[in-house]
Amino acid sequence: MKVTVVSRSGREIIKGGVELDDSATVSDLQNAIHRRTKKYYPSRQRLTLPIQPGSKEKAVVLNPKKTMQDYCDGNTDKLTVMFKDLGPQVSYKTLFLFEYLGPLIIYPIFYFFPVYKYFGYKGERVIQPVQTFAMYYWCLHYFKRILETLFVHRFSHATSPLSNVFRNCIYYWTFGAYIAYYVNHPLYTPVSDLQMKIGFGFGLICQVANFYCHLLLKNLRSPDGSGGYQIPRGFLFNIVTCANYTTEIYQWSGFNIATQTVAGYLFLVVAASIMTDWALGKHRRLKKLFDGKEGRPKYPRRWVILPPFL
Ligand SMILES: NC(=O)c1ccc[n+]([C@@H]2O[C@H](COP(=O)([O-])OP(=O)(O)OC[C@H]3O[C@@H](n4cnc5c(N)ncnc54)[C@H](OP(=O)(O)O)[C@@H]3O)[C@@H](O)[C@H]2O)c1
Repeated sequence: MKVTVVSRSGREIIKGGVELDDSATVSDLQNAIHRRTKKYYPSRQRLTLPIQPGSKEKAVVLNPKKTMQDYCDGNTDKLTVMFKDLGPQVSYKTLFLFEYLGPLIIYPIFYFFPVYKYFGYKGERVIQPVQTFAMYYWCLHYFKRILETLFVHRFSHATSPLSNVFRNCIYYWTFGAYIAYYVNHPLYTPVSDLQMKIGFGFGLICQVANFYCHLLLKNLRSPDGSGGYQIPRGFLFNIVTCANYTTEIYQWSGFNIATQTVAGYLFLVVAASIMTDWALGKHRRLKKLFDGKEGRPKYPRRWVILPPFL
């Protein structure tokens, strides 16, 4: 079979096309493109079937596990596929590890080291109990996320664009430093003992709940990440689609009740808006996938992220 690989502008990516066996898979085609171009390794490639100019239909993305014959539509001698370079890629695990290592390292620097003298504070710094608890709470949270990244999550996509590493690191590292600066500040005024205990207590319960939600999500897929998207069930997922985001938002609320800084609340608002946006997308996708038609189950009635509002 001869496969012609063209860019969106119609330029041939592989001069003369690629010859493949009749039993070849899309993955074989990706490897052949990599061999010929050297630059475009498989996870950098997005291969789709051509669409008619002006058509509003979404292009069919070729699944590496399927055979080329699956996309031939009768004509098994030749096929044209569209190629898009997704740019340099990193594994999802690498992306998440870089994101989370920053706050895990930056925050304790403000707690343990005399950084405030570089900001002009000459006096003795007396560490309040809430500042100590906040440091351990913070580190526990990011340490948990790293462990989840390494041992729990079963990602459907192996890689993410390299540019996301810079974007996400700026987000997590900057907020980490911003919050650490104010919570560990020598002039920081602690909240009452009761408020601190309520905040951290509630936050810790939510962190455990968040971990349990991630275990439930993990069990929706097989260890190699296959299995697609399923209806999450059990625990808070019986009420809300993105229970892991709900518990994430609540656990940051607990941290903020206990530490009470503008920086912390700002992070909560930004994180909650990002997660709400993603949760709306995930909720829509599950409703579309499980529409109750042609034998498919119907997605049950659920809140998206924050019952009883959304
Ligand atoms: N502070 C912040 O700004 C912020 C923002 C976002 C997330 N977070 C935290 O980071 C955690 C991980 O974030 P995330 O956005 O990667 O979580 P996520 O997408 O909701 O889920 C984590 C894992 O479960 C899989 N999954 C989700 N829904 C599934 C379904 N219906 N069927 C099968 N598998 C499913 C995901 O697969 P895919 O690989 O296919 O997505 C992913 O591997 C969150 O739970 C939250 O605690 C924090």
